[in-house]
Amino acid sequence: MKPGAQRKLPAVILISGRGSNLRAIIEAARGGLPIEIRAVISNRPDAPGLAHARDSGLPTEVLSHTQFSDRTAYDQALQKLIDGYAPELVLLAGFMRVLTPRFVAHYRGRMLNIHPSLLPAFPGLHTAQRALEAGTREHGASVHFVTEQVDGGPVVLQAKVPVMPGDTPETLNARVLEQEHRIYPQAIRWFAEGRLKLVVNKDGTYATLDGQRLKP
Ligand code: GAR
Repeated sequence: MKPGAQRKLPAVILISGRGSNLRAIIEAARGGLPIEIRAVISNRPDAPGLAHARDSGLPTEVLSHTQFSDRTAYDQALQKLIDGYAPELVLLAGFMRVLTPRFVAHYRGRMLNIHPSLLPAFPGLHTAQRALEAGTREHGASVHFVTEQVDGGPVVLQAKVPVMPGDTPETLNARVLEQEHRIYPQAIRWFAEGRLKLVVNKDGTYATLDGQRLKP
């Protein structure tokens, strides 16, 4: 490494589909986000994001969940595959699987996820539709550390968007997605720079930025 050059944090990205967040991360890495994307792994062989990763010259892997008898067996194989790349950060970017507690514990403090809602509101699926049905005036996206609780780990960064009259789930989703592409690289930068940590102690589980506890 050249003197003064910033060390790049080795990362692995998990996807299941389109891969627009993956694309945003790849672009950010090209623009100086200090991570080295060692592999992109999908549980779906037909995930469009895989083609983009390949076109970007990144190693790709497919580990189809349909080949495994249960979640535990799948997650064990996935862990082995990921660890072969020795990442210090695992990024879920539209990886649509519920993870087993053992898997989550193995990556505690070094696995982030992006979710299309202002958590703790609307964990799970169809978030834009549910936000519209609930009549909320603000919706958004959250980056959070992954814990055993699905979409329930400590929030690191959020972006709000207004809900507009006449919004459909599609128009609202598009507004949220634009923000996802902005806040995920930002949170990754904080982590790569060693500023963002997950703390687990007697007071609970929370995220800190520059040593300051982030508000839940
Ligand atoms: C994104 O909206 C992401 O927040 C969501 O899936 C989409 C993936 O899009 N993730 C979740 O809902 C996780 N609970 P992408 O493949 O274009 O990045």
